[in-house]
Amino acid sequence: MELENKIIDESKQGEALLVKKPEVSNGKKLFLESYGCQMNFADSEIVASILIDKGYTTTKDFEEADLIFVNTCAIRDAAEARVRNRLNDFKRVKLKNPKALVGVLGCMAERLKTQFLEEEKLVDIVVGPDAYRDLPNLIEEAEDGRKAINVILSKEETYADLTPVRLTSNGVSAFISITRGCDNMCSFCVVPFTRGRERSRDPESIVKEAKEAFAAGYREVTLLGQNVDSYLWAGGGLKKETLTEEQKGNAANFAQLLEKVALVDPDLRVRFSTSHPKDMTDDVLYMMAKHENICNNIHLPVQSGSSKVLEMMNRGYTREWYKERIAAIRKIIPDCGISTDIISGFCAETEEEHKETLSLMEEVHYDFAFMFMYSERPKTLAERKYADDVPEEVKRKRLSEIVDLQRLHSGIRTKQGLNKIYRVLIEGVSKKSEDMLMGRNSQNSVVVFPRGDHKKGEYVNVLVDQCTSSTLIGKVV
Ligand code: SAH
Ligand code: SF4
Ligand code: F3S
Repeated sequence: MELENKIIDESKQGEALLVKKPEVSNGKKLFLESYGCQMNFADSEIVASILIDKGYTTTKDFEEADLIFVNTCAIRDAAEARVRNRLNDFKRVKLKNPKALVGVLGCMAERLKTQFLEEEKLVDIVVGPDAYRDLPNLIEEAEDGRKAINVILSKEETYADLTPVRLTSNGVSAFISITRGCDNMCSFCVVPFTRGRERSRDPESIVKEAKEAFAAGYREVTLLGQNVDSYLWAGGGLKKETLTEEQKGNAANFAQLLEKVALVDPDLRVRFSTSHPKDMTDDVLYMMAKHENICNNIHLPVQSGSSKVLEMMNRGYTREWYKERIAAIRKIIPDCGISTDIISGFCAETEEEHKETLSLMEEVHYDFAFMFMYSERPKTLAERKYADDVPEEVKRKRLSEIVDLQRLHSGIRTKQGLNKIYRVLIEGVSKKSEDMLMGRNSQNSVVVFPRGDHKKGEYVNVLVDQCTSSTLIGKVV
């Protein structure tokens, strides 16, 4: 059984960027591989854009690369272990081509800083998520034989002016970062340490990027942030924490940003991730209900169903508050898909408290969930304040109960799609058969149907007449 689900589609973890050639080549090949959340994948597209501008051609084969970059995740111990293993594979390249450079980017680079250079001798370059503009200088330094590092976090950097090179994409869905960093300090979480303070990106640059994506044939954008509901733009240079009430009132909030992006074109679908239960407002829900092209799907991580555990997690809401938010979604957007993240075996979690998580799941009936065993992270509040005292086998047993229940609920949800007609945006050919196409409905469920004359990027209406545990199958009507 797959106990540790990943933050995003497991099949994407470790995915290398596709081959892309620069206008003027410097004769060097870049291999760039990404782990972690969608924000990390979006950052890799910024990194690719900076390096292709400098003349690098990207390659899918690390054995022929002159420059190997891994964009890393530090969210759980397992994510870091995976990167360490991968670095071993890259040793082969150094043996064959001693001039090849290996760089570690992203959250694990930020967490470990110079320690990385001491522990992993083959690593030449260490770069944190706010320092990618410095990459060309750092590469030059490393080419001169010096170890290069920049892990300075910024309060301003949003890479707003850089156009990402969409290399891992299916050509239909694009990801757009709207905030960076996180100010929440959930006690289990390493992100505030690896990504720094929260900052919002200029809405004009977001709308411009959405328009460019639409013009290039994309039909769906996903707005990304660790807590999209706290998006707030009051003008360049103005910090959220120092705004007056009047400035706050005049600033653009997330609901307003959603509308601006939805108005780019009725045929551009808008999704977003992640919503935070303590900050998700009814304004956002009404905006979703108002615009057909804002998809009816919310990812609302609960983490635990116990108010006591939530308090220790420093999540800023109780079980009752969370249930009220779910009720608001069901009232304002009756057919909304709802997904979540759950952690099993957080510090001092009792059997009773674990049962509260199961009972909350019963009350909500999530369409989908990412489920994890608690993994203690250095420097976090939980590491400093609480003992990681739930034994591994108990964490595992609780997780498997959560996974089993979720599997049941996902199955029930999928069956409810039978005999319904959904508008589906076609993303490409189905994994199982060349004769079938796949896409998603507004609620984010996968829908598969016979190919006919249809192409990716088109919208079709599909009548569902069969299903597996997680996929809807039907015919275009
Ligand atoms: N910003 C998002 C979550 C980002 S991390 C939010 O607040 O909801 C994605 C998920 O990883 C989290 O929702 C949580 O379920 C999980 N996670 C984070 N830190 C973890 C840890 N130390 N151990 C296990 N799971 C963790
Ligand atoms: Fe981590 Fe909490 Fe911020 Fe999410 S909101 S990134 S869980 S600190
Ligand atoms: Fe991982 Fe960093 Fe994302 S720790 S989950 S890659 S923000």
